[in-house]
Amino acid sequence: MNLENSCIVIFGASGDLTFRKLIPALYNLYKIGKLGEHFSVLGVARSELSDDSFRQKMYDTLVKFEKASGESLDAFCEHLYYQAVNTSDALDYVKLLPRLDELHDRYGSCGNTLYYLSTPPSLYGVIPECLAAHGLTTEEYGWKRIIVEKPFGYDIKTAKELDVQIHKYFDEHQIYRIDHYLGKETVQNLLVLRFSNGLFEPLWNRNFIDYVEITGAESIGVEERGGYYDGSGAMRDMFQNHLLQVLAMVAMEPPAIINADSMRDEVAKVLYCLHPLSNEDLKNNLVLGQYTASTIDGEEVKGYLEEKGVPADSTTETYMALRCEIDNWRWAGVPFYVRTGKRLPTRVTEVVIHFKTTPHPVFSQNAPDNKLIIRIQPDEGISMRFGLKKPGAGFEAKEVSMDFRYSDLSSAANLMTAYERLLLDAIKGDATLFARTDAVHACWKFVQPILDYKAERGQVYEYEAGTWGPSEADKLIAKHGKVWRKPSGLMKKKV
Ligand code: NDP
Ligand code: BG6
Repeated sequence: MNLENSCIVIFGASGDLTFRKLIPALYNLYKIGKLGEHFSVLGVARSELSDDSFRQKMYDTLVKFEKASGESLDAFCEHLYYQAVNTSDALDYVKLLPRLDELHDRYGSCGNTLYYLSTPPSLYGVIPECLAAHGLTTEEYGWKRIIVEKPFGYDIKTAKELDVQIHKYFDEHQIYRIDHYLGKETVQNLLVLRFSNGLFEPLWNRNFIDYVEITGAESIGVEERGGYYDGSGAMRDMFQNHLLQVLAMVAMEPPAIINADSMRDEVAKVLYCLHPLSNEDLKNNLVLGQYTASTIDGEEVKGYLEEKGVPADSTTETYMALRCEIDNWRWAGVPFYVRTGKRLPTRVTEVVIHFKTTPHPVFSQNAPDNKLIIRIQPDEGISMRFGLKKPGAGFEAKEVSMDFRYSDLSSAANLMTAYERLLLDAIKGDATLFARTDAVHACWKFVQPILDYKAERGQVYEYEAGTWGPSEADKLIAKHGKVWRKPSGLMKKKV
């Protein structure tokens, strides 16, 4: 039996994530032959749908969003099934038993089952309990794994409670907490860049690095997700998970070997070394913002408070900037400036490593800082910036760059999306790119005082949609004598 033959049970199969990300990812994996033929997908939600109507919905989605067509589309859709279940009623899960038996028999998947929780988070603890009530979590007949979507908890208390709840029915090795940033090729490339290049490795520490900037900017607003976002804000939605994971990739020690445990040991270690922030620290090192209405490219854009599902008096932050430090040998004293926001001028995720200047400016008082810009998305690539002599008389330095674009790699066209990579890893039983419980706790431990500070006294400044956040964020980094990079295109124009 092939251990990858399996049934993928998606809870929340009538929802947005299923049709926008999960089904397209599974379809693309199927199309490139990574799923084989011995798999089935069982959609589960409360809505009454038949197998055929679910298939038709997914078929239409794939045609619309993936421009899918032809035999592979028809063949993929034949692997899709649906079962209506009242997801909060344990008794109703009995309906899953004959369906799963039938699918395992038909596809030779011998009980191997991957559960994907894509429901409202309030059900993340309930579903494992209901599955267990029907013996659907035991591994006597095939492996059982569970992917849990974000958010994993709302704060440190609820994250721990959720862990306890899921651990009653699944062991840690069966639990796959998804953070789709870890599935991004360019986030993984941070490790290869750091640990495979003698050029960078000796410089990657407090002796040579002045400060690090991490930016997760989005040009879109909260769109249709105002109801969810208002209970979350930038801190929970982007910072606590995605950006802290990126920070961990930038700052972690090299793992002794590449396997799930040693990688995740190093990630957890660095997250536990984040310097805890007191209220006094936060007063000086945190800026929160909320976008207001504006006109962008001639189009009127709503302010956050006018968005659907957002209370008119909401103080939820749609922007945050934070200076933090890592208390360990490698990084002591190096500031990490992290910012994220909605309705910023552009969509960009990037890390900028700013190197220290030479000790004595022989040639020019204004020699440019050396920096390494690692563009995670879009326009993925790396740009190294340094100073060279300006042609002509004198010895003035000017900034030049050496650039690499991911798209120049011929194999880049076959890059898997984050959900494709992560779903495939979970099917194969490789948890390396999933967040382990200790790392999730370390993130919450660091974030909890920030949430408390915000709740008690955090001021939320306004910024106009389409700008780089409140001016207070500029003052935050100016204390270090620096300015935020204003990313646009990665590669410099020829001069
Ligand atoms: P939706 O609201 O679009 O879908 C929720 C799904 O859960 C539906 O299929 C719904 O179907 C089902 N459901 C089952 N039981 C309940 C219940 N008691 N109450 C409400 N719905 C129920 O959510 P999304 O698909 O957007 O998100 C799913 C999860 O994924 C969320 O936890 C979200 O935080 C997370 N996520 C979503 C992202 C996205 O881009 N959409 C990105 C990252 C994470 P039915 O009503 O038929 O039961
Ligand atoms: C999601 C957040 O987890 O990540 C969204 O809930 C955000 O608010 C999204 O837009 C960003 O992901 P990406 O892959 O587009 O950078």
